[in-house]
Amino acid sequence: MAAFSKDINQGELSHHLARSLGFSTSPTATFHSPSSSNYGVSAASRTAASAAAKHLKPFATEDIKILLLENINQTGRDILAEQGYQVESLKTSLPEDELIEKIRDVHVIGIRSKTKLTARVLKEARNLIVIGCFCIGTNQVDLQYAADHGIAVFNSPFSNSRSVAELVIGEIIALARQLGDRSNEMHNGTWNKVSSKCWEIRGKTLGIIGYGHIGSQLSVLAEAMGMSVIYYDVVNLMAMGTARQVPTLEALLRGSDFVSLHVPELPETRNMIGQQQFEQMKHGSYLINASRGSVVDIPALIQAMRTGKIAGAALDVYPNEPAGNGDYFTDDLNPWCTELRSLKNVILTPHIGGSTEEAQRAIGIEVGQALVRYVNEGTTLGAVNLPEVNLRSLTMDQPNHARVIFIHQNIPGVLRKVNEILADHNVDKQMTDSRGDVAYLMADISDVDTATIKDLYERLESLSSRIMTRILY
Ligand SMILES: NC(=O)c1ccc[n+]([C@@H]2O[C@H](COP(=O)([O-])OP(=O)(O)OC[C@H]3O[C@@H](n4cnc5c(N)ncnc54)[C@H](O)[C@@H]3O)[C@@H](O)[C@H]2O)c1
Repeated sequence: MAAFSKDINQGELSHHLARSLGFSTSPTATFHSPSSSNYGVSAASRTAASAAAKHLKPFATEDIKILLLENINQTGRDILAEQGYQVESLKTSLPEDELIEKIRDVHVIGIRSKTKLTARVLKEARNLIVIGCFCIGTNQVDLQYAADHGIAVFNSPFSNSRSVAELVIGEIIALARQLGDRSNEMHNGTWNKVSSKCWEIRGKTLGIIGYGHIGSQLSVLAEAMGMSVIYYDVVNLMAMGTARQVPTLEALLRGSDFVSLHVPELPETRNMIGQQQFEQMKHGSYLINASRGSVVDIPALIQAMRTGKIAGAALDVYPNEPAGNGDYFTDDLNPWCTELRSLKNVILTPHIGGSTEEAQRAIGIEVGQALVRYVNEGTTLGAVNLPEVNLRSLTMDQPNHARVIFIHQNIPGVLRKVNEILADHNVDKQMTDSRGDVAYLMADISDVDTATIKDLYERLESLSSRIMTRILY
């Protein structure tokens, strides 16, 4: 407590309190064995830690090393830097050898889609406790390897929902008014003023397939534009505004002037819109897909457009998408690209549904906060590869409490052994959950001193089921 009053004013107290739930993968190293420290902490601070460990508590976060690659948004960088962590931020991804060199040293890495965290790379990441994917997808990370080694992975699946919904609204109007074609004609010097088969969207019916984060946002926006909204979802969901859930996909297709897809990529959603579904759609209706490329059978769409059954389509996602920008949208990528490109009133965009500055900022905040929560409090809510475990935060009036986190193999008998180790202490609260072969235990215990923490840590580390032990205090 002396350190609080000496180093920070009262206004900052609550902020530092969160930080005081500091980080220690290895109390042994922090308190007693500088040479074995895996923190990269300076010799001076280690000496100080040994001499006055309690005073150092609020500053433990300075030892956390974070590497951010691929130009992570400023919002995320700020959240991590504000914690006092050592943050190195690079604009690009790194070649594998350089990545391996750098990752050896860090506790946290933040990436986007270009950095591949394979088992080969992660094997070298001896201090790593958490990976932040500042994006939607996590395919670039070997999630199983990470879980098996107690490394949590977080992403941001829903930060760009609004961006996608807004794009779709724009496309509904653009298709109804054939804007893409008129604009192309003008770019080619042709004045072609037409009103035939151009429509207002007011009073038309939008059918939304998949009423999740994006679908429900779209519902609100579409109603505000005067559209009627119906939706189909495998789950019964409360309608926004006056939207109405319909019982079958067929009912949705038969009743909609515009159909917009917002389902995940699953075996059941693969080609969920194909020849049969196009036949069920209204003559002259429109299709929009900004979900996943596998959901629409594109050759069937091309056929439906040629017959006039479908009056226009907007596609943002494709079965095969190139890894980088360039002249890749050809038949080498997907065998029907040339044919699709030749169709009238088809808007083709390169998977930009979620690509806005706002979404990038929101992703920075969401993933940044998840990383801080995990580092400081061990909370795995939102982790994609570990069970989701959370306990309410320790507070200032619990100065001698410690939070024990024990990530272990999900095998019989572990909890008995862990609770034997914790048995001499008052366990205020405890939670454990498993996901596949990996289990995550979190327990808050009271009245512990640094010697006890060291003892607990060493005994937990000696259990054969142990994957990773962390004690936050
Ligand atoms: N174009 C882009 O840039 C972009 C950006 C973000 C998300 N997406 C994609 O958009 C899609 C929707 O994202 P979200 O965040 O709204 O997801 P979400 O998980 O919030 O919602 C998906 C909804 O689909 C429903 N669903 C699942 N299977 C279904 C089925 N067979 N039939 C009908 N409904 C079904 C679910 O119950 C859920 O309500 C995802 O595929 C996502 O990958 C694309």
